[in-house]
Amino acid sequence: MNIQLNDKTVLVTGASRGIGRAIATSMADAGAQIAIHFHRSAEEASRLKSRLKGSGHITVQADMKDPQALEKMTAKVMDSFKRIDVLVNNAGIYEETDSLSLSYREFINYFKNTMDTNLSGPAWLSFLAARSMKENGGGKIINITSRGAFRGEPNAYPYGASKAGLNALGQSMAKDLASHNIKVFAIAPGFVETDMTKHIFESPHAENFKKQSPLNRTAEPEEVARLATYLAGDHTDYLTGCIIDINGASYLRS
Ligand SMILES: NC(=O)c1ccc[n+]([C@@H]2O[C@H](COP(=O)([O-])OP(=O)(O)OC[C@H]3O[C@@H](n4cnc5c(N)ncnc54)[C@H](OP(=O)(O)O)[C@@H]3O)[C@@H](O)[C@H]2O)c1
Repeated sequence: MNIQLNDKTVLVTGASRGIGRAIATSMADAGAQIAIHFHRSAEEASRLKSRLKGSGHITVQADMKDPQALEKMTAKVMDSFKRIDVLVNNAGIYEETDSLSLSYREFINYFKNTMDTNLSGPAWLSFLAARSMKENGGGKIINITSRGAFRGEPNAYPYGASKAGLNALGQSMAKDLASHNIKVFAIAPGFVETDMTKHIFESPHAENFKKQSPLNRTAEPEEVARLATYLAGDHTDYLTGCIIDINGASYLRS
């Protein structure tokens, strides 16, 4: 299916690298105007801007953990684009540790850092974007969650919790905001080869991780991006509230 996003404005968080960069590229290819959000990777973000198809793309900076920075960033996107048709909450971190080896204080900091980045930040940004979508007659919010929300993350408690929380946040918002023509989706990937998982795929056990899927491989960022672009397009409205697994059958929930 040839998805057209002509005249749509999209804010993609964490678009400097990995899955976010692939989503920004795919949506620009479909005709959208992109606000490329980054945190630390300013160079990568401006390189992406210069490579995206079309014109009028912008870069915006904010730490997902900082509510004021997210408010300023949203204002900047609104100044430039006048509306946000699609928000993609993609930015996220995955920090592994042996939780019980931490002190209580260390565990609190570890937990807060992931929860603020992966759940609170996306919640704050969704609120800001949804308010402007409501004024503009509707919009779409696409949350990039994870298989980790369902299967348990023994080495990353807060990651699994944050992604399960983001699924639940999206479902609450989907129900509440449907009457304002705001649709909310979650995409839950398994392993995707990016900087986040580099340490795994450069380890001697890489083949075992690939074998988690009967396809015997991991996903390319572009495969997740095509799904996000499809959801951002027309004709998907009745899918609101859904969580779509893209994990190569590595984890099947019933
Ligand atoms: N890779 C996988 O196997 C996989 C699987 C399931 C789900 N996911 C999810 O997919 C999303 C993208 O993952 P990825 O693999 O593409 O990760 P990645 O390559 O590590 O990129 C992470 C992105 O998030 C941004 N980011 C990190 N901390 C931030 C903060 N405090 N404030 C603002 N931005 C921040 C980074 O920005 P800067 O570089 O500008 O600092 C970067 O653009 C994440 O939500 C992840 O949980 C990934």
